[in-house]
Amino acid sequence: MKFPVPVVNNLIDGRAIAAQIQRELLARVADLKKRGVVPGLAFVRVGEDPASKVYVGRKEKACAELGIVSETHILPEKTSEAELLVLIGKLNSADHLHGILVQAPLPKQIRESVIYSSVQPTKDVDGFHPINVGKLMLGDATGFHPCTPAGVVELLVRSGVKTEGAEVVVLGRGNIVGKPMAAMLCQKGRAANSTVTICHSATRDIKAHCLRADIIIAAMGVAEFLKADMVKPGVVVMDVGVNRVPDASSKTGTKLVGDVDFKNIQPIAGKITPNPGGVGPMTIAMLLQNTVRAAELSVG
Ligand code: GUN
Repeated sequence: MKFPVPVVNNLIDGRAIAAQIQRELLARVADLKKRGVVPGLAFVRVGEDPASKVYVGRKEKACAELGIVSETHILPEKTSEAELLVLIGKLNSADHLHGILVQAPLPKQIRESVIYSSVQPTKDVDGFHPINVGKLMLGDATGFHPCTPAGVVELLVRSGVKTEGAEVVVLGRGNIVGKPMAAMLCQKGRAANSTVTICHSATRDIKAHCLRADIIIAAMGVAEFLKADMVKPGVVVMDVGVNRVPDASSKTGTKLVGDVDFKNIQPIAGKITPNPGGVGPMTIAMLLQNTVRAAELSVG
């Protein structure tokens, strides 16, 4: 006789947790308003990358819902580095703006490192300025943390996942997720204290590392890279990936998938983020949180 497969309710609901954080932020925005401060955030988008348009649109909408005033500067694909630096200089000195976000990726004639170094660190709500990256490495809480890895930490905390002493594998070593993710989880302190391994394209045996992991954070940008035979039962899996792959059954001929083979891993995972609806909404919630904090810090 075949037993029915039990329904596994092990999903980490990023939408619900992001909504909870946004409700908490409403009170802080109201307090700021009483003090005569309306949080202001500038988005800068260069070129017409379709994914960037979608992401910036979502962030604008979330700002409006919370009472953050946002403005979006759209520059042509052929914009030079010098032209973009002029705009950032103006945004740096605009008193009504507490945060600046330059959406990546940027066209190839513009060096991201130059641009992110030009944003005033106190307005760097992306956490990409070298001063904020350095503060993260040093465990100095006065800086801003990059939004996506900060969102992953918040998901772990609010889902009751213990990071203290946990073996964590981070798949991917990018500046936006992999490296800051590892830096956050290896710190001493709350929601950290993990033993972290970063795996990347030159790692000899990724499967062996993953099989030892209590928590796996997949952020390498390879569609459904993490397979069921690479994880141990009870593992906590956070899927940061957003990959467009061919799909004959969809109208557009493509679909979005994460870095995790969700269908086959969910039944054996302790907890797992759906994708979409897991890490994505948290990136936006953390951007809102960083912006509200930047506004609070601006008035002391
Ligand atoms: N592109 C993908 N993720 C991000 C992010 O967190 N911030 C910015 N500025 N660009 C991105």
